[in-house]
Amino acid sequence: MKKNIILIGFMGVGKGTTARAYAEKYNCFNIDTDDLIESKANRKIKHIFEEHGEKYFRALEQECADWIESSVNNTLISCGGGFFNVNNLKNLGRVVLLDASYEWIYNRLSTAENAKAKLKKRPLFSEPKKAKKLYKERAKAYKKIADVIIDVENQDMKSIIKEIYKKAYI
Ligand code: S3P
Repeated sequence: MKKNIILIGFMGVGKGTTARAYAEKYNCFNIDTDDLIESKANRKIKHIFEEHGEKYFRALEQECADWIESSVNNTLISCGGGFFNVNNLKNLGRVVLLDASYEWIYNRLSTAENAKAKLKKRPLFSEPKKAKKLYKERAKAYKKIADVIIDVENQDMKSIIKEIYKKAYI
């Protein structure tokens, strides 16, 4: 069994921010699947979607999951919002869901200091109505695949990372 923590959850729930806070506090390395894909494709996610479409991006996510399975251990891995659909997620480590309501997520993204950029880099968040539909479609699946569920809506960062450490550290 791999000793990775796999952070999943909807776009904008704070996976990257949480991962960095966790890595600093608990002294581990953190990698992000979107960053890995962008560096391999030498393009931003937005451009991968524009040039090749979503299906191509999903294939890159699967390649990324296969590489993690063969080559990564003892690492905190933050994942793009759709990464949970790869066919080997459960082989990658302990799956931790950051959970919050759509309204909370939307509010977090749209009131962020760099809100425009945060929304712009996420092709599937370009239309809030569609994003909400996607949230509804995924909500159950996220919970079903998770080993641990963390409610981030009612917690500050310090207690979120403490809860992850307690429940998912292996
Ligand atoms: C996606 C989420 C994005 C990124 C891509 C697709 C999704 O990552 O992987 O735009 O399908 O939910 P974040 O969850 O980091 O925004």
